Amino acid sequence: EKGGYEHYMRKEIHEQPRAVRQALSGRIDELAGTVDLDLSLSEEYCRSLDEIQIVACGTSYYAGLYAAGLLEEYADVRVSVHIASEYEFKGNRDPWRTLVVAVTQSGETADTLRALRKAAGSGARTLAVTNTVGSTVTREVDDTVYIRAGPEIGVAASKTFVSQVTTLTLVTVYLGQQRDALSSNERASILEELSAVPSAIQQVLDAEPTVQREAKAFADSESFFFIGRRLGHPVALEGALKLKEISYEHAEGFAGGELKHGPLALVTEDTPVIAVLTDETNASETLHNVKEVESRGAPVIGVTSDDDPNAVFDTTFDVPSIGLMEPVVGNVYLQLFAYHVAKEKGRDIDKPRNLAKSVTVE
Ligand code: F6R
Repeated sequence: EKGGYEHYMRKEIHEQPRAVRQALSGRIDELAGTVDLDLSLSEEYCRSLDEIQIVACGTSYYAGLYAAGLLEEYADVRVSVHIASEYEFKGNRDPWRTLVVAVTQSGETADTLRALRKAAGSGARTLAVTNTVGSTVTREVDDTVYIRAGPEIGVAASKTFVSQVTTLTLVTVYLGQQRDALSSNERASILEELSAVPSAIQQVLDAEPTVQREAKAFADSESFFFIGRRLGHPVALEGALKLKEISYEHAEGFAGGELKHGPLALVTEDTPVIAVLTDETNASETLHNVKEVESRGAPVIGVTSDDDPNAVFDTTFDVPSIGLMEPVVGNVYLQLFAYHVAKEKGRDIDKPRNLAKSVTVE
């Protein structure tokens, strides 16, 4: 049932072009620039909306951070993203004008459900973005949008992250449309970029031998750092989480600009730095950070769509130039990197120690 793959995780990584197509299927009219998600949110409600609060854990939280960047910019709405176990619905906000979005692959995560109940109890509208039909979360919210990734067996989330980001991008365009924050041309162009994601991911998957080679070369490093800005920041955080979960190696993700405020002290020749420098990630600023770590001797892998990376990187993982969604496509390299480091180390990739696929305790 692993379809010839050694691990579910690798199978699921390779399923991503199809997963993204499924998330988009029947929901978009690319020419008209419209999105239909079958939601019960009225245009009046969407327009009156003052804030979106996203609640989630782990990888889903990083998908939420990615979405926040899009929503702020394209749906013209204030967004806050909360680690579900830290969420308090602040009474000083206007609950009737707050939409609380729970992002949860399983739909069963206790911390996320608890946050959602708090919000709903205060009178906020709620929306679930989930993979699991009929899960607990879907029974408790006002609206659900399924990410349609298909079952994910590997404990570490891979395809569901990309599908969550895809689906949340649809939610962004939908709200941009309802709130009149985006013209139909602007919406059409985002949808066009979104439609380019499956084949861009396929190109990344085709480059797997390069990733495997680098993973082998660096597998015994002391520590791994991931840096990125803007939409590259949640991707860096997610890349580090994936690596630590399945390889048990120490990895940290940082906003590129934060390096010099502390983490730089840890950078040595034995700490490879993986830098996300695609569109929408303030790549030129991140380039300064790359130079900072290189001058301390750290090897740098650039995840980049720049055709001319002027040889600053020791290695590049090339991301096809598709604009807005490049960072999430770049994330696929980080999934493959984590997978191959873990494989090199002989880890139990589909069932990492101490972890469960759905965390139903608080
Ligand atoms: C990471 C991972 C976890 C989950 C988190 C939330 O690979 O799988 O961090 O993302 O436990 O789970 P869901 O999305 O089911 O609420």
